[in-house]
Amino acid sequence: MFQTPMADRIRNEGQVATIAVGAITEADQVNSVIASGRADLCAIGRPFMSDPAWLHRELARLGRGSVAWHPAMEPARTQFERVLAKPATPL
Ligand SMILES: Cc1cc2nc3c(=O)[nH]c(=O)nc-3n(C[C@H](O)[C@H](O)[C@H](O)COP(=O)(O)O)c2cc1C
Repeated sequence: MFQTPMADRIRNEGQVATIAVGAITEADQVNSVIASGRADLCAIGRPFMSDPAWLHRELARLGRGSVAWHPAMEPARTQFERVLAKPATPL
């Protein structure tokens, strides 16, 4: 979350709405940035590039239901749901 301190200062000292971005990799980080008033929004860059299902994975991990899949992602949806439904493999 290396750029969040800048979003925080600009928002709270400059009274300008900000979007924090930069190595924000988990929904929990987004929630804490927003809840603590450090930014108005968070953007997710590289995590989405490495995992286009990032949003769906984070929602599932937090048990927060689902949102519509982008039409371009629809072919991946059933496979994603099958994989998520599998019990975790013991190490
Ligand atoms: C492919 C790519 C394109 C980017 N293009 C821009 C851009 O046009 N303008 C900008 O301000 N930042 C751009 N960035 C930087 C991101 O906004 C962001 O600061 C950076 O990727 C760190 O966030 P992340 O850890 O979520 O990827 C880009 C980053 C990537 C990986």
